Amino acid sequence: MQNEAKQALLITGSSGLIGSKFAQIYADKYELQTLDISDPIQPVDITDEQTVFSFFEKSTAKTCVHLAAFTDVTAAWQQRGDTNGLVYRVNVTGTEVLSRAASKFDKHLILVSTAYVFDGKKDTLYTETDTTNPIEWYGQTKAYAEEIVMSSLHSWTIARIDQPFRSDPFAKLDVAHKFAQKISQGAAKLFDNHYFGPTFIDDFVRVLDFMIQSRISGIFHATSGEKWSDYDFGVALQNALSLPGKIERNDLDAYQKQQTRPYQANTALNCKKLLKILPLEQKSVVEALKLIEL
Ligand SMILES: NC(=O)c1ccc[n+]([C@@H]2O[C@H](COP(=O)([O-])OP(=O)(O)OC[C@H]3O[C@@H](n4cnc5c(N)ncnc54)[C@H](OP(=O)(O)O)[C@@H]3O)[C@@H](O)[C@H]2O)c1
Repeated sequence: MQNEAKQALLITGSSGLIGSKFAQIYADKYELQTLDISDPIQPVDITDEQTVFSFFEKSTAKTCVHLAAFTDVTAAWQQRGDTNGLVYRVNVTGTEVLSRAASKFDKHLILVSTAYVFDGKKDTLYTETDTTNPIEWYGQTKAYAEEIVMSSLHSWTIARIDQPFRSDPFAKLDVAHKFAQKISQGAAKLFDNHYFGPTFIDDFVRVLDFMIQSRISGIFHATSGEKWSDYDFGVALQNALSLPGKIERNDLDAYQKQQTRPYQANTALNCKKLLKILPLEQKSVVEALKLIEL
């Protein structure tokens, strides 16, 4: 039943790592109309055009936040080049269907994307004007999704993030909870030559709220805007949470030689474009790490 006090919002991936935090924080603000494949009452597969169109047609929401994706990068590599595979169907076909629905029923579409659209060869922070050049299949399919949205007729926002982590534990372990587990078990070997831009989900969902309300259009990088090595992030996490255990340095280049899936050496993002217009304070990574519950 429609709650008059709440704003209707279409959302995909609301049961995932990020979507469930959004749903938790904004339970009182939005009436979430979820397109969720595992919904026990009304499951929606975003690749099913008929179901998605009928969902959009009935909805009074002005915006759809699109979080659903196949996010297991290593599993995605096994399907590289396969346009009939699940990774392609969810990430590309699903986005295509949502984009067509947004055009037909005049909705603003917010696509949550990834720093893995870049090749990771840049030493400094990636900006929104840097050329994308994915080196593995998950990143490639997300880059295709971005192209679909950018060439659409509806209004859109693309929010790129990297290695998201939340304050509370979640079924799918995020980078902070995964590292904390390894450190506490005394078995943490962390790369000191692999860099990323941690994204604090508790802050990022507020960025999404800002994007919904402002309908800003274009591509925005929305991480912490900081660049961390895995090793330094692990040490900072250990200090913040007073974790027992020893952290050893590991070498990405040596690790890469044993793997077939390519790893981006640096996916840290420059967020100045967003920070210029964002009316919110973002926590630094060190501040965010202190809020983590195990
Ligand atoms: N996690 C990361 O490291 C990371 C980094 C950068 C960007 N991102 C982007 O951020 C977004 C959210 O990521 P996340 O980590 O929160 O994802 P997640 O936890 O893996 O959740 C993915 C969601 O997509 C849903 N889904 C999968 N296939 C679907 C389909 N065919 N139809 C409808 N729903 C479907 C899943 O539903 P079920 O649970 O029911 O299967 C789940 O709710 C994604 O777009 C991802 O590309 C994530």
